[in-house]
Amino acid sequence: MTAEIIDGKAFAARLHQRIAAQVAAFAAAAGRAPGLAVVLVGDDPASAVYVRNKHKATVAAGMASFAHRLPADLPRHDLLALVDRLNADVAVDGILVQLPLPDHIDARVVTTRIDPDKDVDGFTPENAGRLATGLHGFVPCTPLGCLMLLKDRLGDLTGMDAVVIGRSNIVGKPMAHLLLRESCTVTVAHSKTRDLPDVVRRADIVVAAVGRAEMVRGDWIKPGAIVIDVGINRTEAGLVGDVDLAGALGVAGAITPVPGGVGPMTIAVLLRNTLVSACRREGVPYDKEAL
Ligand code: GUN
Repeated sequence: MTAEIIDGKAFAARLHQRIAAQVAAFAAAAGRAPGLAVVLVGDDPASAVYVRNKHKATVAAGMASFAHRLPADLPRHDLLALVDRLNADVAVDGILVQLPLPDHIDARVVTTRIDPDKDVDGFTPENAGRLATGLHGFVPCTPLGCLMLLKDRLGDLTGMDAVVIGRSNIVGKPMAHLLLRESCTVTVAHSKTRDLPDVVRRADIVVAAVGRAEMVRGDWIKPGAIVIDVGINRTEAGLVGDVDLAGALGVAGAITPVPGGVGPMTIAVLLRNTLVSACRREGVPYDKEAL
């Protein structure tokens, strides 16, 4: 058996098109474009690439992009003051502070300062709590993108066994809540989990988000399982995921490649969340089914 490759790049490109159409409708109704502010502190090269890609995609979708590039030694109170200004700026519908932040700034303090109704990353305690309790809110972009790929492939996820490897606030925890919302039986595994290969072998759905190159081996995968690889690891051999793709290909039913799987979905969902924020803030209706 050879697993189907889930083409996240193509899926994201179609989502971009649907977003752009609704951005145009929003602009016609509201008299302005949706606005996304992206804040980058310091000069981490990977973050700089992500922020540049977000800016390009935002503009390509017909949205306004407000980029704030700040020095690594920026005092914490200056960053908080910028967040306060963006919270109050009526042209800004979404605020994203790129993580990681320099060591002298506690990311939790900064994300908590963002207005939950502009928190298109879904990182504020308010939005994490909304997701956990089933209220409307913003869901973190990467796990929501993973869920879209899963539902596109599987339709109804009810009753499936899902294993999420990784318990971060950005991916693992929100992913577990999303899968629970879809009535999966969810296991969250992490670095202290005993017998991880056996835990993974039970899963119809595997979401790997640990940040360790090719840690999940092909013989850990249940035959026919759907594997979503969130890892982006830079190695001498190039970019690889958290899953041994070559090994998994012979066992899984379908798998997202790295690159070209989950990665492109993150930015597409960020734009989706920004459009939804703009529509909610202006009272403009939007086509939820198309997003
Ligand atoms: N760093 C890596 N991924 C993300 C993300 O989705 N949002 C933010 N703000 N920072 C990140």
